[in-house]
Amino acid sequence: SLYQKGVKNLCENGITKVPKKYILPIPDRPKSENEDLSVVNSNLKLPILDFAQLQSSNRSEVIASLAKACEEYGFFQLTNHGIASNVISHMSDASKRFFELPYDERSKYMSNDMFSPVRCGTSFNQNKDGVFCWRDFLKLSCNPLEDLLPYWPASPVDLRQAAEAYSKQAKFLYLMLVEAILESLGLVNSEVGDNYLDEFEDGSQLMVVNHYPPCPEPDLTLGMPPHSDYGFLTLLHQADDVKGLQIHYQGKWVSVEPLPNSLVVNVGDHLEIFSNGKYKSILHRVIVNPSRPRTSIASLHSLSHNRVVRPSPKLIDEANPRRYRDTDFATFLEYLSSCEPKEKNFLKSRRID
Ligand code: SIN
Ligand code: FE2
Repeated sequence: SLYQKGVKNLCENGITKVPKKYILPIPDRPKSENEDLSVVNSNLKLPILDFAQLQSSNRSEVIASLAKACEEYGFFQLTNHGIASNVISHMSDASKRFFELPYDERSKYMSNDMFSPVRCGTSFNQNKDGVFCWRDFLKLSCNPLEDLLPYWPASPVDLRQAAEAYSKQAKFLYLMLVEAILESLGLVNSEVGDNYLDEFEDGSQLMVVNHYPPCPEPDLTLGMPPHSDYGFLTLLHQADDVKGLQIHYQGKWVSVEPLPNSLVVNVGDHLEIFSNGKYKSILHRVIVNPSRPRTSIASLHSLSHNRVVRPSPKLIDEANPRRYRDTDFATFLEYLSSCEPKEKNFLKSRRID
């Protein structure tokens, strides 16, 4: 259908109203759940962590702030993160040019196969969603990089090179953050060997470029429905100075203001499970606006697909019983195919009550 060609394509056909396919039931609309719109739209100041400080004599203070951010918010902004600014700007630039390509050029990369090295599409799951969301995407699998890179889009001509550099630096940063997170959970000490990061290094990495065209009636739809992220950690670059990301905090939806030169980092389901519930994988969503396109680049990291994720045995004791069942990628796929899109809450399905 027309909708399966994506939102960009729809907008190029000059629409002035949101088509029915995208109109959410009233309770699911962005402004419906709270009367006091000034509160809903208030900006949340996320904790800001300075990555450079982790390498300084202040490391233990930063580790403590990291623990607090992961417990209270599940989200933080990271400054001085070490991904080179030209690598970031090249990646955002090439990504934006990808969405400028004619539909026929982009559609070569459409796929329903979760294991495809490149997947282009629209909404959340364009084959299942009853109501579509206002978002087109490009997903690039990144590990093992040498094997997958040849499948990535050949146009724009510099996209592969840009995405290769970005994904490598994002992976490096991820591993440094994992090290800090394990330390913050009290799991790094003299007993762990030198190779304790190997299983994270071997893990999966998926880069998702999200593109949200301006929407003529933004109160009727969402760029992305409420969800939590599947993996261990997500690193997000908001490529324009345009708000859109909202997180569910203390019962309200609050906007995350883009902070120049920083990345938004959030705890995923696997880290919540691994930490036995100490760190929180928070619901978030994306709202759209009538005037400015928005692009974001997410790097999603987890263990490799054949690994079982479970609470760390060191975080379980009499006072803290095990709170989650074992899980793996197959369990996740099974869950996805069995549940209604609206009820999607994988984490909840793993909880032991
Ligand atoms: C996401 O939840 O991964 C998308 C966030 C965004 O576009 O800001
Ligand atoms: Fe997300």
